[in-house]
Amino acid sequence: MLGVAGGIAAYKAAELCRALVQRGYTVQVVMTKAATEFIQPLTFAALTGRKVVTSLFSSGNSEETLSSAVEHIAIAQEHDLLVVAPATADILAKFAHGLADDFLSTLYLAFTGPVVLAPAMNTNMWRHAATQANLEALRARGHKIVEPEDGFLACGMIGPGRLADPESIADVVAEQLEHRHDLAGETVLITAGPTQEPLDPVRFISNRSSGKMGYALAEAAAERGARVILISGPVHLPAPRGATVVPVKTAGEMRDAVFGNLRGATMVIKAAAVADFHLSTVPQQKIKKTAARLSLELDPTPDILAELGRDKKDWLLIGFAAETENLEREARRKLQTKNCDMIVANLVGGDESGFESDHNEIALALKTGEFLRFPRASKRELADEILTQALHLRHVLAEPAHER
Ligand SMILES: Cc1cc2nc3c(=O)[nH]c(=O)nc-3n(C[C@H](O)[C@H](O)[C@H](O)COP(=O)(O)O)c2cc1C
Repeated sequence: MLGVAGGIAAYKAAELCRALVQRGYTVQVVMTKAATEFIQPLTFAALTGRKVVTSLFSSGNSEETLSSAVEHIAIAQEHDLLVVAPATADILAKFAHGLADDFLSTLYLAFTGPVVLAPAMNTNMWRHAATQANLEALRARGHKIVEPEDGFLACGMIGPGRLADPESIADVVAEQLEHRHDLAGETVLITAGPTQEPLDPVRFISNRSSGKMGYALAEAAAERGARVILISGPVHLPAPRGATVVPVKTAGEMRDAVFGNLRGATMVIKAAAVADFHLSTVPQQKIKKTAARLSLELDPTPDILAELGRDKKDWLLIGFAAETENLEREARRKLQTKNCDMIVANLVGGDESGFESDHNEIALALKTGEFLRFPRASKRELADEILTQALHLRHVLAEPAHER
């Protein structure tokens, strides 16, 4: 689906449309009302050989059948990807906030597949805090933003805002469609969130994990066609679409849930921040504030990752290492000692990345000896990167060692 919004660059959408048709895709064009002020629907109808959709309500046709009356749902279900070029400041705002007052914005809400957005606008509109905040929200949802280029704009300004080259937008579409079903046939077991270790019936020890990284992985893997089992500690996040969520509280419960759901898994991703220590005998009654000082003796919790490493079958084992220093050394050490195929290492403790943030800065230590660093990005973007690297790693590990 090619969405065309009402910007001066709408004429370039015709070039993108042609590029997509030439690459063999079936293209359904949807134009906003404003877009039709800039370019005729007929141009796209001629390029695609299909009727262009321009409005949610067909004008005064009382013979309307139900199937065409819910066209936005039908179109959303029949297609693999939505690309919007040019994406106006307005359509970005509507998508970010979930408004659905025309066909394109309604279609966006009804569509569950990958979304590519190629914004184009005046430099000040692009730099405006509102537009940037909307883009952040859309990136966090896993949508791919094809950044506008710097250059001379129609409004006379020089700066960022010019629509990216149509061929490079078509390249991003092709890349996204390649990922579309690349995890089909995989069963991905993911752990996420913190654990809570009770101290008495009303208190517990826990940590600052929000679960966002594990949930982003679950959402990305499900979108890419995997069967996903998400074993989750207590978090405040909605269940990722397409994943089966198994809620747990303690490290012990998480261990049992992991081993109870391991059958059939092809990838095991341990993104949870499992407590290292717990009180092995929890008092039946609330601890009273009587003594001047309270000492608690804590015992280690089960080391789920180490146990998985010892029992390793042919599934890919991916662990996480949250470190406050010596990232590479610690990640490589954990890769070895826990017998993992990959360690996702992230620096925690700063404000901008880590536990509660929507962003992260990670590096991957791979069994092949590689150590790959990634720039700061949204957890959802990094989730896709981790899954792509995991698939690649499996292909490499399947080759005989001397051919690697
Ligand atoms: C001549 C002209 C050029 C415009 N160019 C752009 C543009 O490049 N990017 C943009 O975000 N808005 C642009 N606008 C403003 C949009 O057309 C306006 O926000 C409109 O409501 C967008 O509607 P839509 O998002 O439903 O297509 C332009 C308006 C005019 C009159």
